[in-house]
Amino acid sequence: MKAAILGAGRMGETVIGHLLDDPILTGLIAYDVRAERTAELAARYPIEVTTELRRVLDDPQVRVVFVTASNDAHAELSLAALAAGKAVMCEKPMAARLEDAAAMARTAHETAGFLQVGFELRYSRLYTTVKQWIDEGLLGDVLAVNCTYVPGEFWGRDSWRTQATSGGMFGEKLSHYVDLPRWWTGSEVTEVYSASAPNAVPYFQVRDNYQTTCRFGTGAVGHLSFLMALASTTTDLDPLQDMLTQQRGDGHELRYLVQGTKGAAETDIFGRSIKRWAFEETRRGLDSSLVEQLTWALADDHTYLHNTTEQARDVVRRVRDGRPPSIAPDDALQTMFVCAAAELSSDEGRPVRLEDIAALGNAGKQSLEGTT
Ligand SMILES: NC(=O)c1ccc[n+]([C@@H]2O[C@H](COP(=O)([O-])OP(=O)(O)OC[C@H]3O[C@@H](n4cnc5c(N)ncnc54)[C@H](O)[C@@H]3O)[C@@H](O)[C@H]2O)c1
Repeated sequence: MKAAILGAGRMGETVIGHLLDDPILTGLIAYDVRAERTAELAARYPIEVTTELRRVLDDPQVRVVFVTASNDAHAELSLAALAAGKAVMCEKPMAARLEDAAAMARTAHETAGFLQVGFELRYSRLYTTVKQWIDEGLLGDVLAVNCTYVPGEFWGRDSWRTQATSGGMFGEKLSHYVDLPRWWTGSEVTEVYSASAPNAVPYFQVRDNYQTTCRFGTGAVGHLSFLMALASTTTDLDPLQDMLTQQRGDGHELRYLVQGTKGAAETDIFGRSIKRWAFEETRRGLDSSLVEQLTWALADDHTYLHNTTEQARDVVRRVRDGRPPSIAPDDALQTMFVCAAAELSSDEGRPVRLEDIAALGNAGKQSLEGTT
């Protein structure tokens, strides 16, 4: 079987790299609307390229497509591929508009098609370690999940990501970070309150900051604090160098604190560290002791932080074996609902209930877009 890349920019090229020597595949074909881009890829890799979507969809050997185009093209490409009977692995966000994401999930159900969404943090060891601790009961019942995320403005003026058509910051960037607490706790968000200050980045059509609080069905609470402009940007750094070390102490932060009834966990990307504490009642009061601290080598950053390699290969294996996606379409759609609720809450300055967003999304009436 062959795999196709639909939208072959930077992420598309990353997936080509992951799948080039996958022994299950007999070939790769990359499709993009830009002929200069497909020519560039054809010169660089032993793959087929095309600017005709039909050529991919009509090729019976292509059984799985990776939708790695810009967000505004996700729905159109995914729906066309599902209609052609292809398995679809679509990058996050599912779509730039919530109603399109809902239509994708619906179509996958109606056609019994394979649709997975690119939440590769669920394949990444930093976060699977926390999941394992929670599933083993080491943290007890999860009560609070706190995420602080401070990157620099690394998109630049010309990026499609700064435009309203990208679907907004929550879908593009923060969907990963509200998806994780849902997955870790196994509990659904019931209500979201989000507040955003005016932008620091004047040319963004999307928001650059959020203070977002989610209530979960179990009573747990999650908070995400996101500031995009504070840390130094990274555009001038050599990506082959140890970027985390350079950025550490330079304002960058991406840290989770997960508190349960029996213990707590911390993930800290810029410290390359995962920690676990255990709580114990003593005569003095509640004692907390650090019981595990793990780190990893620079060479393992990809596996720990953004394991798109394992995600891509797992999808190919699942399609070959006729197994369902590891993340069901409705599961991914719930994360899109949380993103839309956060944008709406930041728009209107009021808490937003997920059931209201779900009803609007399914009825095609609520956009994911959150713009300044
Ligand atoms: N999961 C992650 O951590 C992660 C990381 C990076 C990017 N992404 C996602 O990957 C996607 C692409 O990001 P990128 O950085 O590669 O962007 P990019 O701008 O480098 O590439 C996007 C490509 O899509 C092509 N395109 C646009 N509309 C198209 C259409 N209708 N049909 C075919 N091709 C079309 C463009 O020509 C371009 O080559 C985005 O959805 C982004 O959110 C995910």
